[in-house]
Amino acid sequence: MPLVTTTEMFKKAYAGGYAIGAFNVNNMEMIQAIVEAANECRSPVILQVSAGARKYANPVYLRHLVEAAVETTDIPIAMHLDHGADFDICKASIDGGFTSVMIDASSKPWEENIAITKKVVEYAHDHGVVVEAELGRLAGIEDDVHVANDDAMFTSPDEVEEFTQKTGIDSLAIAIGTSHGAYKFKPGQDPKLRIDILEEVGRRLPGFPIVLHGASSVPQEQVAVVNQYGGSMPNAIGIPESELRKAAKLAVCKINIDSDLRVAFTAAIRKHLAENPSHFDPRQYLGDARANMKEMVRHKIVNVLGSANKA
Ligand code: G3H
Ligand code: 13P
Ligand code: ZN
Repeated sequence: MPLVTTTEMFKKAYAGGYAIGAFNVNNMEMIQAIVEAANECRSPVILQVSAGARKYANPVYLRHLVEAAVETTDIPIAMHLDHGADFDICKASIDGGFTSVMIDASSKPWEENIAITKKVVEYAHDHGVVVEAELGRLAGIEDDVHVANDDAMFTSPDEVEEFTQKTGIDSLAIAIGTSHGAYKFKPGQDPKLRIDILEEVGRRLPGFPIVLHGASSVPQEQVAVVNQYGGSMPNAIGIPESELRKAAKLAVCKINIDSDLRVAFTAAIRKHLAENPSHFDPRQYLGDARANMKEMVRHKIVNVLGSANKA
């Protein structure tokens, strides 16, 4: 099956009360881990590429790796630009074969966010590509943009109808208490999502797909492995998986996860090299990293997203 847009995936996810995982990819092993897990779970999946990933891997390499993945399975796969900063990067991704782009002008004033988003939507729709945009601001790190906790803002439900109508977007990322990165909350804190805001957004935009960024949960057992084998990740917790389950049953159709996969990948490499100090063949430690990341994706699909057997 060729790459697909997210339109059909989201329609089914909305109706079925589950969400599709959008996992960030930077190299071959990550793409294989995600697609193998999704294939074995018979789950649709979104592979997303950030500006940092484009810089690291070259988008042409990533596109061909994703095309190779698509050839090896029949599950629906979408290729998405994560946090597109401006029209040009969205256009380059659309021209380069992506089936979905995010224009993230959420840090810009209201009118400017609408104008840039609308321009991207027009170009994307002309080329059969769908568009995600964002209202509200998440705390944490997005590429080179650092949003301090104090500057983070929940999405106002009063704005969502006008924004979606004026821009013509296909899905909307909202801020309801998630944040980017592996250091979201201190141990002992009890992070909760603003499910009330999500419900109100759902009432204002019936049937419209909502997206959650910054949805890693920072698995403590993986952080413990990193730290047991020479790492020094600070003690931190993420978004409880039970909160994400609640959101997936409501209007949330896409849940972005990057940090948890990175931690799983790194934990396996650290463990492998500590236990096998003579190894120098990258296939040995990258093989373990890929297997551990695959287990993390499987866990998310089965226990958090609810998208298994929906392909
Ligand atoms: O939201 C950002 C993603 O986690 C991508 O991170 O910009 O370091 O590739 P990156
Ligand atoms: P995490 O850092 O919580 O994994 O969020 C990833 C993300 O939102 C990518 O856009
Ligand atoms: Zn994000």
